[in-house]
Amino acid sequence: MQQRIDSLQTKLTTAYKPGFGEFMSSIQTHHAKLWWAGQHKNWQLADFEMHEIMEATTAIQQYETDRKESKSIPMLQPALDSVNNAIQQKNTVLFNSSYTLLTNTCNACHQANNFAFNKVKIPSVNTFSNQDFEIK
Ligand code: HEC
Repeated sequence: MQQRIDSLQTKLTTAYKPGFGEFMSSIQTHHAKLWWAGQHKNWQLADFEMHEIMEATTAIQQYETDRKESKSIPMLQPALDSVNNAIQQKNTVLFNSSYTLLTNTCNACHQANNFAFNKVKIPSVNTFSNQDFEIK
């Protein structure tokens, strides 16, 4: 029995777990796609990308419990709610201001955690040339 427990313990401690930075890189992708979805008024895609960001933040809270920054994840909620509201209303003006709030909140957390050098911004070029953001 003890041997099995030890073996399971080893499996657990060596199991692959994405790092904080990997979750953030994924959030960065969805943050960019969210913008282009909004600019193309592709609200279904925007909704999808926003939920991908939410899923990643939930995963951070679940898997990155050893990182103190994880406690600050809820600070994103008001901005995400605001983006969500703009998407539901299909309102580009509201979407753009909510997206700015979201981006500022990303940076506020980076600044609060000595990652100010990691500054995100509103995308200027759509680098996802292999994805169609237009609604046909
Ligand atoms: C709860 C605090 C917090 C919030 C909110 C936050 N980040 Fe981060 N972010 C971090 C930390 C901490 C790191 C450094 C991770 C590491 O140690 O690798 C980071 C790193 C990053 C990186 C660098 C990843 C890499 O390895 O190149 C990007 C890009 C990034 N964040 C984007 C975002 C975006 C976009 C948002 C908003 C949608 C956001 N972050 C919101 C804490 C946060």
